[in-house]
Amino acid sequence: MTAPAMRDDAGAPGEGTRARGEPMREAAGRVSMRGIVKRHGTFTALHGIDLDIEPGEFFALLGPSGSGKTTTLRILAGLEPLNEGRVLLDGADVTFREPGERDVAMVFQSYALYPHMTVFDNIAFPLRMIATSPDAVERAVRDAATKVRIDHLLARRPGQLSGGQQQRCALARAIVRKPRLFLLDEPLSNLDAKLRLETRVELRKLQRSLGVTTVYVTHDQEEAMTIADRVAVFMEGRIVQVGRPQDIFTRPATAIVAAFIGSPPMNLLPADVRGGALHVAGVELPMTRSLGADGPVTLGVRPAALRIAPTGLPARVYLIEDLGDTTIVDLDVAGQVIKLRTDHRPQIREGEQVHVAFAGDACHLFERDSGLRRSV
Ligand SMILES: Nc1ncnc2c1ncn2[C@@H]1O[C@H](COP(=O)(O)OP(=O)(O)OP(=O)(O)O)[C@@H](O)[C@H]1O
Ligand SMILES: [Mg+2]
Repeated sequence: MTAPAMRDDAGAPGEGTRARGEPMREAAGRVSMRGIVKRHGTFTALHGIDLDIEPGEFFALLGPSGSGKTTTLRILAGLEPLNEGRVLLDGADVTFREPGERDVAMVFQSYALYPHMTVFDNIAFPLRMIATSPDAVERAVRDAATKVRIDHLLARRPGQLSGGQQQRCALARAIVRKPRLFLLDEPLSNLDAKLRLETRVELRKLQRSLGVTTVYVTHDQEEAMTIADRVAVFMEGRIVQVGRPQDIFTRPATAIVAAFIGSPPMNLLPADVRGGALHVAGVELPMTRSLGADGPVTLGVRPAALRIAPTGLPARVYLIEDLGDTTIVDLDVAGQVIKLRTDHRPQIREGEQVHVAFAGDACHLFERDSGLRRSV
């Protein structure tokens, strides 16, 4: 694959004379955010965001709508003033630097294309800003457009494109050069399911080959978990967990994170730890593993860890959803619906009384009050 035309960074301070073993300068694309607070009047959108992103990382900001992902990205880009905190890029404080001085390429949630320009000229724009030769522009634009499959649309204007095509045009404009950072805000949200999956893979491959640090905003947990090296989970203007997707999946830090990750997400039930046993829905479940101190907890079990068994929690089969290769069974346990996922269609009927069981090491325990994971 040909890399898009490189920006000539020779003029940047210190870049040309960078010495080996000098960590600050070698680390192109390192991001640090320190104590970022953002207020809109009396409403606080960000309550002190701390974030460290390594050079070359594909880093996802994941969280529900309104949790502060776009605000964080815009502060990183220099598009949004902040109330408190600092932003550092490769060790340099850029908190008060203009967006143009930060060398970032951003794809917005709304695509912000130039309506009077053709698709070709829109994609070429960042290259022409840095005086690239016409031949190099031509090659880089075609290359970027091919990667996102709009190379047949280069002569059109944005108004003559579908929403998904406009989004891919914005993506091509971002990847046409090699900036210090890619900042992508839900860049695939307008693509249909199939194209979304394909573009996601392309984007990941492209980012790997370019090695550009990428901050990727999404509210889709599956997207974040499959595409990112690491994920920061946002809830109500705070980061509640940072980690590799696998770590967040296997050890969610809070009950709320647990309920946000996985498809379907983790089941949560009120329970009590008493004398080494777990009491759930009026049933005592002896456990061989350590459960920690006696007290009220929230029990978490992933749908795939549940099975229908001769003994366990009494449940009524509420609904059976056959999804082809897997089956989701909704079960009513003491008035609360939990989901079981299995690859084998269980021999049960809707309305039937059954028992549901799970292995001790498959259960997660969170403090009932704080929601924090028990360290057991
Ligand atoms: N100009 C503004 N005035 C007041 N509140 C704002 C303003 N801009 C954003 N907010 C609020 O700040 C919070 C964070 O917004 P933000 O756009 O960062 O959320 P998000 O996580 O990107 O959500 P989504 O997934 O819906 O895009 C939201 O509650 C939003 O309503
Ligand atoms: Mg947003």
